[in-house]
Amino acid sequence: MTKFLTLDDFDFKGKRVIVRPDFNVPLDPETKEILDDSRIRAHAETINELSEKGAKVVVIAHQGRPKQPDYTESMEKHAKKLEEIIGKPVKYVHDLYGDIAKKAIKELKQGEILVLKNVRSFPEERKKKSPEEHAKSELVKELAPLADIFVLDGFSVAHRSHASVVGFAVVLPSCAGRVMERELNALNKALQNPEKPYIAILGGAKAEKCIDIIGYLLENNIADNVLTGGLIGQIFLLAKGVNIGEPNVEVLKKKGLYELVPKMQELLKKFGEKIKIPSDVAIEVDGKREEIDVSELPTKEPIYDIGRKTVEQYSKFIEKAKTILLSGPLGVYEKNQFIAGTKEICEAIVRSKAFTLAGGGDTLAALKKLGVYEKFSYVSLAGGAFIEYLTGAKLPGVEVLEKAALRK
Ligand code: 3PG
Repeated sequence: MTKFLTLDDFDFKGKRVIVRPDFNVPLDPETKEILDDSRIRAHAETINELSEKGAKVVVIAHQGRPKQPDYTESMEKHAKKLEEIIGKPVKYVHDLYGDIAKKAIKELKQGEILVLKNVRSFPEERKKKSPEEHAKSELVKELAPLADIFVLDGFSVAHRSHASVVGFAVVLPSCAGRVMERELNALNKALQNPEKPYIAILGGAKAEKCIDIIGYLLENNIADNVLTGGLIGQIFLLAKGVNIGEPNVEVLKKKGLYELVPKMQELLKKFGEKIKIPSDVAIEVDGKREEIDVSELPTKEPIYDIGRKTVEQYSKFIEKAKTILLSGPLGVYEKNQFIAGTKEICEAIVRSKAFTLAGGGDTLAALKKLGVYEKFSYVSLAGGAFIEYLTGAKLPGVEVLEKAALRK
């Protein structure tokens, strides 16, 4: 059972607090404008609460990965967006732990908020190191002495043993922010004594991790059934001996997913009927959607969605379920003629009376496009961290919070 401290366990008045949210958001490739501010909006709650409680708030976050198109060294646009959301001034300095940053931190008054430049500009940030090693990094050695408390709010970055995620928690009293708290509570509700029947619906392309998720959920009797779609569904079809057709196999080979077939076969052998695979699929013929039964495969056309029959079969499980976990779209929802499978499954999920949890990869974007985002019991802001947590793995960020709680 995860035990961590929260914002309720500290008196923040007059304290300098380093907050680590996840401000990594989709950007317009040309203008670098923020396209979706969901994460900043969510973390604004934690930051504003600290400010309201009289803390001097120092925000350390990242955007993208160095040398990648979504990387920006400046976090000024994020600071502006935060200011807009919480409706009070947010300072920004284009420095991380140099004299300018340190001066700005020391000058902060109660309730003031300061955002520093992209923490991934610090070359050691992403080095594979333990929390204790990261605690000795320049970033932590320079900034921790200026702070009283560390708040880790970015659950979505908690799977990274990065300096700003795990280093401060070794040397400072530390707790979870409101986003971290909510994410962990929702995920733990879905993993620890969940209400049954429990189904996990897994789509998308994160097939490697999906093997671990299925293993974890079925081995430990957490889920009763796993329903599959997307590329994961196609790999399972292959694992069952169905020839899905050359172009589809090629896609899987290119993505390095074809080699997962034997592992999927092992899962089918072990868990049999608990794993459901599509019984029909939608293919693209001359730009149009056509549905064919799995018995009609192979096809020369690309498979882009699950078919109506599969939707009906999956919907019967959804209706009866008390807990439903969704990760990944069931088809290429970006193409309008192939959105139907994901749409109908999502609509069935939100119609159900179950506790409904979604997250991982593209899921949030898909739910927003479908207009069902608000109707889930909880939608995680995390991609990789969500998926990692579902495999039963301990996330480094969560572990440091647990250790910090034991120290208090
Ligand atoms: C995410 O968007 O999943 C987090 O911000 C982590 O980003 P990363 O995959 O670049 O470490």
